[in-house]
Amino acid sequence: MCGIVGYIGNKESKNILLDGLKELEYRGYDSAGIAILENDNFTSFKALGKLKNLDAKMAEFTTSSFSVGIGHTRWATHGKPTELNAHPHLGESSYVVHNGIIENYQELKKELQDGGVTFLSQTDTEVIVHLFEKNLAHTANAFEAFERTLERLEGAYAILLVHKDENDTILFAKNGSPMIVATDNDGDIYFASSDAPLIGKASNVIYLDDGQYGYVKAQEIHIYDTQGAEVHPAFSTLPTSKLSAQKEGYRFFMEKEIYEQSDVLLDTLLGRLSDEEIMFDEVDTSLLHGIDEIKLCACGTSYHAALTASYLFEREAKIRCSVEIASEFRYKKPLLSTNTLFIVISQSGETADTLETLKMAKEAGLKTLVVCNVDNSSMVRLADAALLTRAGIEKGVASTKAFATQVTLLWMLALYTAQTRRSIDQQALRKQLRILRKVPLASKVDGAMHERIHRLSKRYLHGHGFFFIGRDVFFPLALEGALKLKEISYLHAEGYPSGEMKHGPIALADPELFTIALMPEHLLYDKMKSNVEELSARDSTICAISPLEFDKADDFLKTRQHEHYMLEFFEMMVIVQLLSMEITVRLGHDVDMPRNLAKSVTVE
Ligand code: M6R
Repeated sequence: MCGIVGYIGNKESKNILLDGLKELEYRGYDSAGIAILENDNFTSFKALGKLKNLDAKMAEFTTSSFSVGIGHTRWATHGKPTELNAHPHLGESSYVVHNGIIENYQELKKELQDGGVTFLSQTDTEVIVHLFEKNLAHTANAFEAFERTLERLEGAYAILLVHKDENDTILFAKNGSPMIVATDNDGDIYFASSDAPLIGKASNVIYLDDGQYGYVKAQEIHIYDTQGAEVHPAFSTLPTSKLSAQKEGYRFFMEKEIYEQSDVLLDTLLGRLSDEEIMFDEVDTSLLHGIDEIKLCACGTSYHAALTASYLFEREAKIRCSVEIASEFRYKKPLLSTNTLFIVISQSGETADTLETLKMAKEAGLKTLVVCNVDNSSMVRLADAALLTRAGIEKGVASTKAFATQVTLLWMLALYTAQTRRSIDQQALRKQLRILRKVPLASKVDGAMHERIHRLSKRYLHGHGFFFIGRDVFFPLALEGALKLKEISYLHAEGYPSGEMKHGPIALADPELFTIALMPEHLLYDKMKSNVEELSARDSTICAISPLEFDKADDFLKTRQHEHYMLEFFEMMVIVQLLSMEITVRLGHDVDMPRNLAKSVTVE
């Protein structure tokens, strides 16, 4: 979730690069940096935090002739957000910026270190520049050295590299991470990891394909394919609206974020999962010493993630686990014990009620941990330890990818607790780790299913309310489905444990009551089925979501067959998100900015 820009030409390059990074800042803002090569002189600046810090550092700097520049805004995956870990990374005489993950970086780093190379950062990216410089010693020119470097890299990347001895050239490569090369009317050349930085500057663009790489010089673009043959892709015309460019072709940020879930979940898992164990560099096992209870505390969607996790902590880690709504907890004068690990969950890390409970727990002497999406947020700074969900910036007020990553991270934390307390046998742990790896795939949007939900949505625009029902972890998912629907469509919706319907709510059942039933194959299917049959017998309109055919429903959304209920959970999560969005679109409401709500609730 980083952003990349590049420029080669006669215009003042600092402002071009800074403007470009501003457009990408929503993708990551824990640090940023720029390197510019002008008349054989490299100048580089890096700053922690928002882009304005980099802007301030560069205030006195300007270019006055032909120059070559690269820039980056970072969302940390490997290594903490520090200036040393910020891009561009320097070798002896080259700078590199990179978006993506070099999966074999540890092996490459060791090889380079054994050969005497000193690393300054903890990032995977730094291996690229050192490997390039090592290859340079044995090749005729920078391009050949770059080709050799790419042959060794495994993983996803978009790379820009500049080298002092070829001061009119940018080397580039794309594999799995976006990269665009563009030109303006003067023939100057630009790079960016999405359209937005280029709008208003360049006019013609080439969207590079995976495996393509090459170099640009003043007014020249050379692109090669995976076989090393030069190719000449056609230029396209840039879109004109910046906002739509940031949405990358999706109608709403919420839609883009639903589709992004599968990718960001890969980041959540990255480097934290081996075949045998969960690894959290950020947490010391001593955090769990002397702990016999876990208390999870949050608001809204994050509360639903906590509730989901409470089942997993008790079931997998065999540790007592309670869940609190932060706005209630802070005033109930709770009895707190120092044997409890207090975990707050927050996308923003700034929610006032949740932050306050964290302060209370700290004052009471409890060990604290935050599961958060925003590094350097108030909660991350305050808690004893932090685990970042790595969802990237979430713009839609209705939280989607933040929830997916929270649930995944908390599930991993439950397994980490289980392995630390030795409350899970190795075979069971191995199985869970294998299933965790399948979460990104289970969360991938199926286009045909989206289309079906779109068509179905027209039948659910009226009525006197929705009940989302489920059991076990599907109960918090039902709560989350109902919250999604009500916050953007303004229709009344409730989430309920399906076994509770007969204790009152079933009195509401009639054809104008819409029931969205979450019916996984691998968790209490028969119990769930009889609850839905009870509602069907009272003529409630039922939309069943299940991999198993069910003939008592009015509408049926058939999910894929999975081997574990948590994989069914993630597929159904996508479905309830899309259903809420499609109903809202038909009703004509603002999907991304619903009335009366704000993205971050920093007041009580
Ligand atoms: O940033 P947080 O996770 O602490 O925010 C908590 C809630 O305000 C948030 O989840 C809210 O419920 C979302 N708008 C739901 O989509």
